Amino acid sequence: MSAVGIRRIRLGAAFVLLAYLILHFLNHALGLISLDAMETGRHWFLALWRSRLGTLALYGAITVHGVLALWLLYQRRSLRMPAWEAAQYGLGLLLPALLASHVVGTRVAWWHAGADDRYARVLMLFWVTAPERGAWQSVALTVAWTHACIGLHYWLRFRPWYPRFAAWLLAAALLLPAAALAGFVAGGREVQALARTPGWTEALTRATNPPDRPAAARLAGIRTGFLDAYLGALVAVLAARGVRALWQRRRSVRITYPGGRAVTVPLGFTVLDASRAAGIAHASVCGGRGRCSTCRVRVGDGLEHLPPPRESERRVLARVGAAADVRLACQTRPAHDLAVVPLLAPSISPGEALGADVRQGHESEIVVLFADLRGFTRMAEHKLPYDVVFVLNRYFETVGTAITRAGGVTNQFTGDGVMALFGIEDGAATGCRQAVAAARAMVEGMATLSADLASDLPAPLRIGIGVHAGPAVVGQMGWGQSFYLTAVGDTVHVAARLEQATKDYNAELVLSEEVARLAELDLSAFPGHELAVRNRGGRVGVRVIARVADLGPSITG
Ligand code: FES
Repeated sequence: MSAVGIRRIRLGAAFVLLAYLILHFLNHALGLISLDAMETGRHWFLALWRSRLGTLALYGAITVHGVLALWLLYQRRSLRMPAWEAAQYGLGLLLPALLASHVVGTRVAWWHAGADDRYARVLMLFWVTAPERGAWQSVALTVAWTHACIGLHYWLRFRPWYPRFAAWLLAAALLLPAAALAGFVAGGREVQALARTPGWTEALTRATNPPDRPAAARLAGIRTGFLDAYLGALVAVLAARGVRALWQRRRSVRITYPGGRAVTVPLGFTVLDASRAAGIAHASVCGGRGRCSTCRVRVGDGLEHLPPPRESERRVLARVGAAADVRLACQTRPAHDLAVVPLLAPSISPGEALGADVRQGHESEIVVLFADLRGFTRMAEHKLPYDVVFVLNRYFETVGTAITRAGGVTNQFTGDGVMALFGIEDGAATGCRQAVAAARAMVEGMATLSADLASDLPAPLRIGIGVHAGPAVVGQMGWGQSFYLTAVGDTVHVAARLEQATKDYNAELVLSEEVARLAELDLSAFPGHELAVRNRGGRVGVRVIARVADLGPSITG
């Protein structure tokens, strides 16, 4: 069975345990009303969980959840993991040790020795006879609840509706255990008061048939045996991991990352394991559970040696429209050397992971704008580096603001050039109008900036802008922390060519006829030309706008 299948079964078991925990907490919370209310609630609680079906569901879930947790611990090759996942693992592994005494003292004592574990007896133990065990039990329930909430959060956060309800769920997650603890305290106080009543304790003892000395010894043996078995299983899993690591060290695979960085890992590691083992930041929003797709990588050399993706991986990849050479790093265990390129930024959030804008490689009709400062290189030669950086940053601020305000996305700042995309969300027609509005704002911004810096500049800053619209592949591209939304394709080359043409025509703006058509601009008053673009058949019809101000005031985003 695949790791994803195992995780699904484990998740089902987790929901049974969560239901048990919630009902248990609600039962405790009844202590805020009275001890009698707690006992009445317990009656219904036991009717469910001590029925045959309830017993089977509860103990089946405990067994399945626990055994599969150990199995997954064995399965995962690297123990490096995000903090939240480590916390969930750690708290989960603590639970058997924390809860063993309570389970043996209640359920097993009832089952084995006929002891009645009503609230009065248990609260008597926790609040009068052995208060330290009451504190221990409170810690155990808090740990169980925290473990459950972390798991639930990291499972639900992929649901599109989750952000809307997260605050409410958080409130419930805090209120429920708080109410349970408050009920536990109120019930305990009531029992403390009753215990001071002459004869009450003796009557309680007679009514609840607590285990006698031999039965208590047997129960202690059961508890010790369980803890020994659990500890033994944990040690066995860790030992098996060690043996496997030694064995697999004999055969290893080499995974190459962008920039030529190579990581050699034992056979059986997933690509995500390899990234983690080598300390390479790699997006993995779902923690390697094969659900989020954020770990996806483009596979270069070695693709032909990879086994085909399993059904679950195929489904996730299909959901994001991944190309044939893209695989989930957390599900891919290379048996031969491999070259990969992680496709998403390591810092990607669940919301971004769900958003369409991060899907790499989807083709769309967009508008691309290129802009460049005229004569800046020559001007920079006569300035101190600090002055150059200062002027450039003011320039980028000006054009970046103009682009963003018009509705575009600044995409690349290189040297004194900038590339921006429009219409990704709203379509090419809107994008064209936005790009023209941005061009106007950029030119106006340059005039203001030149006036501001007049004493530092030998001449006013001038800008050349090229705009073209057409199909392009849009997606998040890059490496490491340097991921950004960008576009590639013929449309981008043409836009860059139009920006260069502004020098030839000594114009502020050159835009393609396609942009004018989509923006519904009548540019017949401006000179038209047919431009050749390198490596491209056919010519591009353009309009040359010497001064953007001549476009008139009616053009807006
Ligand atoms: S980490 Fe989520 S699918 Fe791989």
